Amino acid sequence: MPVVRGKNIEPLFTAEQIRQRNLELAQDIIKGPCDDLLVISVLKGSFIFAADLIRALHDVGLAPEVEFITLSSYGTGTVSQGVKIIKDIDSDVKGRNILLIDDILESGRTLLFAKELMFERGAANVTIAVLLDKKVKRKEVFEADYVGFECPDYFVVGYGMDVAYAFRELPFVGVVTGDA
Ligand code: IMP
Ligand code: MG
Repeated sequence: MPVVRGKNIEPLFTAEQIRQRNLELAQDIIKGPCDDLLVISVLKGSFIFAADLIRALHDVGLAPEVEFITLSSYGTGTVSQGVKIIKDIDSDVKGRNILLIDDILESGRTLLFAKELMFERGAANVTIAVLLDKKVKRKEVFEADYVGFECPDYFVVGYGMDVAYAFRELPFVGVVTGDA
Protein backbone atom coordinates (compact mmCIF):
# COMPACT_ATOMS: atom_id res chain seq x y z
CA MET A 1 0.00 0.00 0.00
CA PRO A 2 1.40 3.47 -0.85
CA VAL A 3 2.74 5.45 2.11
CA VAL A 4 2.70 9.25 1.86
CA ARG A 5 3.44 11.67 4.73
CA GLY A 6 3.65 8.62 7.01
CA LYS A 7 0.08 7.58 6.20
CA ASN A 8 -1.17 4.44 4.48
CA ILE A 9 -3.25 5.35 1.44
CA GLU A 10 -5.47 2.60 0.10
CA PRO A 11 -6.06 3.12 -3.64
CA LEU A 12 -9.73 3.23 -4.62
CA PHE A 13 -9.36 4.18 -8.29
CA THR A 14 -5.97 3.62 -9.92
CA ALA A 15 -4.24 5.99 -12.34
CA GLU A 16 -4.84 3.52 -15.16
CA GLN A 17 -8.56 3.13 -14.36
CA ILE A 18 -8.92 6.92 -14.32
CA ARG A 19 -7.03 7.35 -17.61
CA GLN A 20 -9.27 4.79 -19.31
CA ARG A 21 -12.43 6.30 -17.85
CA ASN A 22 -11.45 9.84 -18.91
CA LEU A 23 -11.25 8.67 -22.51
CA GLU A 24 -14.71 7.08 -22.25
CA LEU A 25 -16.10 10.30 -20.75
CA ALA A 26 -14.62 12.31 -23.63
CA GLN A 27 -16.25 9.93 -26.10
CA ASP A 28 -19.60 10.56 -24.38
CA ILE A 29 -19.10 14.33 -24.13
CA ILE A 30 -18.47 14.68 -27.88
CA LYS A 31 -21.93 13.18 -28.53
CA GLY A 32 -23.53 16.07 -26.58
CA PRO A 33 -23.81 19.80 -27.28
CA CYS A 34 -20.20 20.88 -27.80
CA ASP A 35 -20.24 23.48 -30.56
CA ASP A 36 -17.98 26.40 -29.49
CA LEU A 37 -17.56 24.59 -26.16
CA LEU A 38 -16.34 26.42 -23.07
CA VAL A 39 -15.03 24.12 -20.35
CA ILE A 40 -15.00 25.54 -16.82
CA SER A 41 -12.91 23.81 -14.18
CA VAL A 42 -14.33 24.30 -10.68
CA LEU A 43 -11.31 24.86 -8.44
CA LYS A 44 -9.52 23.77 -6.54
CA GLY A 45 -10.23 20.04 -6.39
CA SER A 46 -10.85 19.50 -10.11
CA PHE A 47 -7.54 20.82 -11.44
CA ILE A 48 -5.95 17.45 -12.22
CA PHE A 49 -9.14 15.81 -13.48
CA ALA A 50 -9.84 18.84 -15.69
CA ALA A 51 -6.28 18.82 -17.05
CA ASP A 52 -6.60 15.16 -18.04
CA LEU A 53 -10.19 15.38 -19.28
CA ILE A 54 -9.53 18.35 -21.58
CA ARG A 55 -6.60 16.44 -23.13
CA ALA A 56 -8.92 13.45 -23.59
CA LEU A 57 -11.35 15.87 -25.28
CA HIS A 58 -8.54 16.83 -27.64
CA ASP A 59 -7.86 13.15 -28.30
CA VAL A 60 -11.46 12.65 -29.46
CA GLY A 61 -11.31 15.74 -31.69
CA LEU A 62 -12.71 18.61 -29.60
CA ALA A 63 -11.04 22.01 -29.24
CA PRO A 64 -12.70 23.67 -26.23
CA GLU A 65 -11.82 26.97 -24.59
CA VAL A 66 -10.89 26.52 -20.92
CA GLU A 67 -11.74 28.69 -17.93
CA PHE A 68 -11.52 28.41 -14.15
CA ILE A 69 -13.84 29.39 -11.31
CA THR A 70 -13.05 29.05 -7.62
CA LEU A 71 -16.10 28.32 -5.47
CA SER A 72 -16.32 27.78 -1.75
CA SER A 73 -19.05 26.52 0.57
CA TYR A 74 -19.83 28.37 3.77
CA GLY A 75 -21.85 27.40 6.83
CA THR A 76 -21.64 24.02 8.51
CA GLY A 77 -23.81 21.45 10.22
CA THR A 78 -27.33 22.63 10.88
CA VAL A 79 -26.62 26.18 9.69
CA SER A 80 -27.98 26.54 6.18
CA GLN A 81 -25.13 26.28 3.72
CA GLY A 82 -24.38 28.42 0.74
CA VAL A 83 -21.80 28.75 -2.00
CA LYS A 84 -19.78 31.82 -2.84
CA ILE A 85 -17.53 32.83 -5.71
CA ILE A 86 -13.91 33.23 -4.61
CA LYS A 87 -12.58 33.87 -8.11
CA ASP A 88 -14.77 34.24 -11.18
CA ILE A 89 -14.24 33.37 -14.84
CA ASP A 90 -13.31 36.15 -17.28
CA SER A 91 -15.28 34.90 -20.31
CA ASP A 92 -18.79 35.82 -21.39
CA VAL A 93 -20.90 32.66 -21.37
CA LYS A 94 -23.91 34.17 -23.21
CA GLY A 95 -25.25 31.81 -25.86
CA ARG A 96 -22.51 29.25 -25.31
CA ASN A 97 -22.31 25.56 -24.57
CA ILE A 98 -20.71 25.13 -21.15
CA LEU A 99 -19.17 22.03 -19.60
CA LEU A 100 -18.55 22.37 -15.85
CA ILE A 101 -15.90 20.00 -14.48
CA ASP A 102 -15.63 19.15 -10.78
CA ASP A 103 -13.94 16.51 -8.68
CA ILE A 104 -16.80 15.22 -6.50
CA LEU A 105 -20.54 15.65 -6.54
CA GLU A 106 -21.75 15.34 -2.96
CA SER A 107 -24.60 17.48 -1.64
CA GLY A 108 -24.97 18.99 -5.10
CA ARG A 109 -24.92 22.55 -3.73
CA THR A 110 -21.70 23.65 -5.43
CA LEU A 111 -22.63 22.45 -8.89
CA LEU A 112 -26.26 23.50 -8.63
CA PHE A 113 -25.02 26.99 -7.77
CA ALA A 114 -22.55 26.97 -10.67
CA LYS A 115 -25.09 25.67 -13.17
CA GLU A 116 -27.72 28.23 -12.18
CA LEU A 117 -25.10 30.99 -12.31
CA MET A 118 -24.22 30.08 -15.91
CA PHE A 119 -27.88 29.98 -16.97
CA GLU A 120 -28.51 33.36 -15.26
CA ARG A 121 -25.65 34.73 -17.36
CA GLY A 122 -27.31 33.46 -20.52
CA ALA A 123 -25.50 30.21 -21.28
CA ALA A 124 -27.26 28.25 -24.02
CA ASN A 125 -26.57 24.88 -22.43
CA VAL A 126 -24.76 23.68 -19.29
CA THR A 127 -23.59 20.11 -18.74
CA ILE A 128 -21.68 18.68 -15.79
CA ALA A 129 -18.77 16.24 -15.65
CA VAL A 130 -17.56 14.90 -12.30
CA LEU A 131 -14.91 12.34 -11.55
CA LEU A 132 -16.75 10.95 -8.52
CA ASP A 133 -20.38 10.80 -7.48
CA LYS A 134 -21.20 10.29 -3.78
CA LYS A 135 -24.94 9.79 -4.19
CA VAL A 136 -25.70 9.05 -0.54
CA LYS A 137 -24.61 12.59 0.41
CA ARG A 138 -26.98 14.38 -1.96
CA LYS A 139 -29.03 17.25 -0.47
CA GLU A 140 -30.34 18.73 -3.71
CA VAL A 141 -32.22 17.14 -6.60
CA PHE A 142 -29.25 17.21 -8.92
CA GLU A 143 -27.38 14.81 -11.19
CA ALA A 144 -24.26 15.12 -13.32
CA ASP A 145 -24.39 14.39 -17.05
CA TYR A 146 -21.04 12.57 -17.06
CA VAL A 147 -19.76 10.60 -14.05
CA GLY A 148 -16.37 8.93 -13.84
CA PHE A 149 -17.09 6.59 -10.93
CA GLU A 150 -19.71 6.04 -8.26
CA CYS A 151 -17.86 6.76 -5.00
CA PRO A 152 -18.45 4.94 -1.72
CA ASP A 153 -19.04 7.19 1.28
CA TYR A 154 -15.38 7.60 2.29
CA PHE A 155 -13.40 10.79 2.49
CA VAL A 156 -11.10 10.42 -0.51
CA VAL A 157 -7.83 12.12 -1.43
CA GLY A 158 -5.54 12.34 -4.42
CA TYR A 159 -5.86 13.24 -8.10
CA GLY A 160 -6.42 16.86 -7.05
CA MET A 161 -8.43 16.20 -3.90
CA ASP A 162 -7.03 17.11 -0.51
CA VAL A 163 -7.39 16.85 3.20
CA ALA A 164 -6.07 20.11 4.69
CA TYR A 165 -4.16 20.91 1.45
CA ALA A 166 -2.30 17.58 1.44
CA PHE A 167 -2.33 14.63 -0.97
CA ARG A 168 -3.45 16.52 -4.07
CA GLU A 169 -0.39 15.24 -5.96
CA LEU A 170 -1.30 11.55 -5.84
CA PRO A 171 -1.86 10.14 -9.35
CA PHE A 172 -4.69 7.93 -8.02
CA VAL A 173 -7.75 8.37 -5.77
CA GLY A 174 -7.43 6.76 -2.37
CA VAL A 175 -8.49 6.67 1.26
CA VAL A 176 -6.21 7.48 4.19
CA THR A 177 -6.43 4.35 6.36
CA GLY A 178 -4.02 5.25 9.16
CA ASP A 179 -0.41 5.63 10.21
CA ALA A 180 2.16 3.55 8.32
P1 IMP B 1 -21.01 19.59 -2.75
O1 IMP B 1 -21.54 18.71 -3.87
O2 IMP B 1 -21.48 21.01 -2.85
O3 IMP B 1 -21.27 19.01 -1.39
O4 IMP B 1 -19.45 19.78 -2.93
C1 IMP B 1 -18.59 18.72 -2.91
C2 IMP B 1 -17.20 19.34 -2.82
O5 IMP B 1 -16.65 19.07 -1.53
C3 IMP B 1 -16.26 18.68 -3.82
O6 IMP B 1 -16.16 19.46 -5.01
C4 IMP B 1 -14.94 18.62 -3.08
O7 IMP B 1 -14.19 19.80 -3.32
C5 IMP B 1 -15.33 18.56 -1.61
N1 IMP B 1 -15.31 17.15 -1.17
C6 IMP B 1 -16.38 16.39 -0.94
N2 IMP B 1 -16.05 15.14 -0.56
C7 IMP B 1 -14.71 15.11 -0.57
C8 IMP B 1 -13.76 14.06 -0.31
O8 IMP B 1 -14.09 12.90 0.00
N3 IMP B 1 -12.46 14.40 -0.43
C9 IMP B 1 -12.06 15.65 -0.79
N4 IMP B 1 -12.91 16.66 -1.06
C10 IMP B 1 -14.23 16.40 -0.95
MG1 MG C 1 -14.67 20.91 -5.41
